[in-house]
Amino acid sequence: MKQLPVLVVHGGAWAIPDNMVEVHLKGVRHALAEGWRVLERGGTSLDAVQTAIVCLEEDETFDAGRGSFLTRDGRVQLDALLMDGNTLRAGGVGCVERIRNPIKAARIILDDSPHVYFVAEGAERFVQAHGMELCRNEDLVIEREVARLKDAQAKEAAGQPDLTFAGTEFGHDTVGAVALDMNGNLAAGTSTGGTLNKTPGRVGDSSLIGCGCYADNQSGAASCTGWGEPIMKLVLAKWATDRVRQGIAPDITSTDAIAYLHRRLKGHGGMILLDGRGRFGIAHNTPRMAWAYQNTERDASGINV
Ligand code: GLY
Repeated sequence: MKQLPVLVVHGGAWAIPDNMVEVHLKGVRHALAEGWRVLERGGTSLDAVQTAIVCLEEDETFDAGRGSFLTRDGRVQLDALLMDGNTLRAGGVGCVERIRNPIKAARIILDDSPHVYFVAEGAERFVQAHGMELCRNEDLVIEREVARLKDAQAKEAAGQPDLTFAGTEFGHDTVGAVALDMNGNLAAGTSTGGTLNKTPGRVGDSSLIGCGCYADNQSGAASCTGWGEPIMKLVLAKWATDRVRQGIAPDITSTDAIAYLHRRLKGHGGMILLDGRGRFGIAHNTPRMAWAYQNTERDASGINV
């Protein structure tokens, strides 16, 4: 019997202000619809996750692709990971500056390289050699983020607390998706511009296997969002999928994972988690998180869960 497909996407967990709720909802719903089209016609979970994340990267609302947070020196540096739960093949990029859709670069690495992870210029050269056109870093920078960086640096110079890094206020719009296809295969992906005013060269949790993203048919598929350093230290996506493998349902596990993140390291963020039976969980400890969900029977989306 064919498996009923499921898709869950997220557009980051933070204090999404009231006047940005609608654009976040619109963005995750659009990504869900595009990804769902792939699953509905019998496509793979990997293609569905990639399709959904491309939509989110293309949407300047989110901290992924064009419109991402800027580094301390005013550049966009992007990280992404895509993982196939059937084969455990994975492709990741870190600190890329000239790639418009890092999740597509991750897919090229997953498909065409015996390696798993490429960074910076080496990643750009590899995907260019495999047919991807590179952009200029300026093409990824938007005015809103130039102003946001200036404001953050002015606050920093005035000695105000570093809300950009450890706080929930300025947010983590990292995007991600997890999917289960008709053949019962899971996949997960995560894409991000990282944290506002980050030191150039910093890599967050999003693109690191098992930290911000993980998929294994034998356990589950997870995509995280939030303050990357604590998530990384706890290898949170793998922590969660291991518990699903032990038989703990994804809704309970995702809540436990976010509670553990806070209890152990005062971290904040969110997680979407899916298992091979189509059961899912969405959890966050930030004021809001943008998400959307669809299976063959129902679809739903929200800013809070
Ligand atoms: N979770 C995104 C980052 O910290 O880079």
